[in-house]
Amino acid sequence: MSIDTSKGSTPETTEDPALTADELAEMSVEEAMLAGAEADGVYIVHRRERFPIAGTKAERRAERTIAALFVLAFLSAVAFIVVFCGAVPFEWHLPGQGSQEFRYFTPLLGFTLGLSLACIGIGVVLWAKWLMPEEEAVQDRHDDPSPETEQIMTTATLISGYNDLGVARRSILKSTIGLASGALAAVPLVALVGAMIKKPNKGPGQSLFHTLWTSGVAVVYSDGRRVSPDDLLPGGIETVFPGVPGGVKAGDSPTLLIRLRPEQASKVQTRPGQAGFAWGDYVAFSKICTHAGCPASLYEQQTGRLLCPCHQSQFDVLRDAKPIFGPATRSLPKLPLGVEIVDGKQYFVAKGDFPEAIGPAFWERP
Ligand code: FES
Repeated sequence: MSIDTSKGSTPETTEDPALTADELAEMSVEEAMLAGAEADGVYIVHRRERFPIAGTKAERRAERTIAALFVLAFLSAVAFIVVFCGAVPFEWHLPGQGSQEFRYFTPLLGFTLGLSLACIGIGVVLWAKWLMPEEEAVQDRHDDPSPETEQIMTTATLISGYNDLGVARRSILKSTIGLASGALAAVPLVALVGAMIKKPNKGPGQSLFHTLWTSGVAVVYSDGRRVSPDDLLPGGIETVFPGVPGGVKAGDSPTLLIRLRPEQASKVQTRPGQAGFAWGDYVAFSKICTHAGCPASLYEQQTGRLLCPCHQSQFDVLRDAKPIFGPATRSLPKLPLGVEIVDGKQYFVAKGDFPEAIGPAFWERP
């Protein structure tokens, strides 16, 4: 049944809300839908096909525009998968030690997935606004459970809505939205499976396990000046960096250089294998908290405790920065210190890298 509502009136389908299942079975889908609407207190006051004559140029143009959006959504979702699967390098490298293109990886993932979702969303909205019948309805509300007849009518309403979508006759839209949805559905699957395959410690040189500190690298302030043992008073603390290109900017570089008080130096309990890491009454630890990576730099010199302000983890510097309070469970890695003499003055150098990975724990880490 085609519904003529050009006068803006409610189409006459049934006056009797108590229709039987047999009577409803005799009706067309649209008649049953309208009967169901009225029986449920819904009155369609205006209903008009957007394109009363099917297949016009305007209708085909609207269809093609929407289909183009779905194709773009498909291509974007595929691009996401291609980027995720390795088309763009994702392995992090220290500054100056390899390709820095990994910085495009995350923005590209966000852009391609966002574009795909936006295209599908815009396409669906345009489909409803441009191609589906224009309709206005008002509805009464009721609280009682629906009888069987109403359930049949509701089913008819849903089928009618599906017919209004025009999926059966709009094959280009059906194909393109299927294509876009399929590619988009593959995105979480690829991300889930891929995250189990990709490991951050598998990059060249296992970059997450190493910093710019190596044997002989100068210990410098953020302005590049070298650090001398004469610079700090007992109980003093400084943030220092490796004196190599990019050393000050590298996120895993910040290191705390602490000069213990005279009465504390003899009480230090070192971890096995790290006895020679201190130099005189100086010790150096990674500044990156082992809980969640905040800078742990609030130092209480009388007790030798280092506090991380983010979640209040405390590390005992006299026990090689062992966590003694808060959520951190791992000691701050300790930097082996030495000195070299330049122009008759002593300056600190590192005697090697941190023996453990710095910062929060991640999988497969010792
Ligand atoms: S990041 Fe330091 S306690 Fe949480």
